[in-house]
Amino acid sequence: MTSTPILVTGGTGTLGRLVVPLLRDAGHTVRVLSRNERPAADGVEYVAGDLFKGEGIDAAVAGAEIVLHLAGGPKGDDEATRNLVRAAQGAGVKHLVYISVIGADKVPLGWFKMKLDAEQAVAGSGLPWTTLRAAQFHDLALTVVEKMSKMPVIPVPGGLRFQPVDARDVAARLVELTLGEPAGLVPDLAGPKVYGLAELSRPYLRTRGKRRPMLPVRMPGKAGRAYRAGDNLTLEGATVGRRTWEDFLAERVA
Ligand SMILES: NC(=O)c1ccc[n+]([C@@H]2O[C@H](COP(=O)([O-])OP(=O)(O)OC[C@H]3O[C@@H](n4cnc5c(N)ncnc54)[C@H](OP(=O)(O)O)[C@@H]3O)[C@@H](O)[C@H]2O)c1
Repeated sequence: MTSTPILVTGGTGTLGRLVVPLLRDAGHTVRVLSRNERPAADGVEYVAGDLFKGEGIDAAVAGAEIVLHLAGGPKGDDEATRNLVRAAQGAGVKHLVYISVIGADKVPLGWFKMKLDAEQAVAGSGLPWTTLRAAQFHDLALTVVEKMSKMPVIPVPGGLRFQPVDARDVAARLVELTLGEPAGLVPDLAGPKVYGLAELSRPYLRTRGKRRPMLPVRMPGKAGRAYRAGDNLTLEGATVGRRTWEDFLAERVA
């Protein structure tokens, strides 16, 4: 148990909202960095700051021996992570934990490259570190199939597969890693099954009582090749989450 606070960046997000109560319930003091000011609540204190703009980070990190870095967005995670690393170095942080994505080192798309750059900032920080690469969360898969199901026809890129994982399983694993010894790059965390886009969409459509024709399409370019090769998957050696996509849909959509 730590008496000094554990700083959680992104503690207000989909993943962070699940992680924070687990840490607090394990008896730890939790501090969350958010771009919006919030009063302390449920035993959690909030510090206002913006990792990308480099604002409020020193105050957030001050006195924290452990930093769990979950903040992320479509852009700027590399710069934001470098800013956090600088502050963490100054504060003498003893364990920096980062959440990345499976395929960060392989999928040739800007977002994956950005996650890899952020990983490298953590690994090259000189601080003791742990990085977990996770598959897409069920919540994100749901956003995708919801959008797709609004179209009259669902395009299904051949060879595109996913291993969606439940954010609760990611949260539990991150808490274990955060409270453990720094471990470097740990085995990836993926969901228990592999799905094509049609297989992800069908149970959703069924639950919603909808029907949609599916149109096979070919994903062009380097990214298409990488996805067909399964570069966004970890089929061997992954830690596997417990909850399936069907479990998630039954709870969330039924
Ligand atoms: N979603 C997935 O499928 C998936 C898969 C693998 C890895 N990941 C990674 O897991 C992490 C969490 O994802 P999520 O889906 O939980 O994200 P999310 O729901 O979109 O939440 C994003 C969080 O980041 C914080 N944030 C964003 N920009 C910030 C900034 N400039 N300064 C400070 N805080 C900032 C937000 O805090 P405020 O709004 O309160 O400022 C919020 O708490 C991300 O690093 C993401 O790349 C996600």
